[in-house]
Amino acid sequence: MTAASANWARLNLIYPPSRSDVSEVERISTGIKELDDALEGGIPKGSWVVATGEPGVGKSILAMHFAYAGLKAGDPVVYVTTEQEYRDVVVQARQLGMDFGRYPTYSLGWRKEPEELPQIVVVDIFGLLKVARQLTEKSKEESSDKVKRYAALSVDTLIEAIGEAYKVLEVVEEGRGAPVRHVRLVIDSMSAFWVDKPVMARKYSYQLKIATHRDNVTALLTSQYAPTTGQAYGFGLEHIADGVIHMWMDDVESAREVRRHLIIKKMRMTNHSRKAFDVEIEPGRGLVLRQ
Ligand SMILES: Nc1ncnc2c1ncn2[C@@H]1O[C@H](COP(=O)(O)OP(=O)(O)OP(=O)(O)O)[C@@H](O)[C@H]1O
Ligand SMILES: [Mg+2]
Repeated sequence: MTAASANWARLNLIYPPSRSDVSEVERISTGIKELDDALEGGIPKGSWVVATGEPGVGKSILAMHFAYAGLKAGDPVVYVTTEQEYRDVVVQARQLGMDFGRYPTYSLGWRKEPEELPQIVVVDIFGLLKVARQLTEKSKEESSDKVKRYAALSVDTLIEAIGEAYKVLEVVEEGRGAPVRHVRLVIDSMSAFWVDKPVMARKYSYQLKIATHRDNVTALLTSQYAPTTGQAYGFGLEHIADGVIHMWMDDVESAREVRRHLIIKKMRMTNHSRKAFDVEIEPGRGLVLRQ
């Protein structure tokens, strides 16, 4: 830290942000009104937010709401889906009242070039495989005796794929990696990238955050929890995230029904609600939150 930045940090400690500073934070809608209200209007622009929870709590649906709100607002969207095929995302979203099919879409896995400027670029397992192959080829060209082989589900491949998606969306300028306009990034789920090596979660999370955390990128990443232990599959993401939205369900054996809940555990620059919501997933509406 330089002397100037140390002074600046100290000043910020002495003078907590005033009300006007709070209102200066630009907020990005989550796509769910009740959640936005609990977040003083939405997620601070440029944040890296993680949705955590066990299977079936609604993390992927939350990701759909966030992406769909972006499409409606005119934001370009990068949608990484490792859990399910994008066409299944589209089908489920439609059941829940979100019509992704209305927006020009391009998938990185497709052979053909985009015919029109897409508003959403999908990075699924096929897209990741293609990018991994390209990276391996590039490594072969650079040095035939020390070839680096890239896996589809590796953070290096993911970072490259997100960069490719920005190019397709035409949000980056030649020679620069940071988008010049606001982009929404969804990664559903991050757990897939360290499923076979959970001890690496923190290192990979840092690597990804350094590569993707930009003022113009608001990101929602999902992370799975083991239902048996209540532990995240690999630690790290929650510690370095700017916000954590945690979802869970009551023990189904004693409740004898699925009762879901959501709580905002942290959100930087936000005086957020500290109370849990009850969550319903309703056809035509998606996640419905009540406090
Ligand atoms: N059309 C629908 N109508 C009502 N409820 C639905 C509908 N589609 C999905 N659901 C509910 O949403 C649940 C799945 O939510 P979601 O896929 O967001 O969970 P998740 O937290 O992402 O789980 P995982 O960790 O397994 O990916 C289903 O189990 C079902 O209960
Ligand atoms: Mg999911």
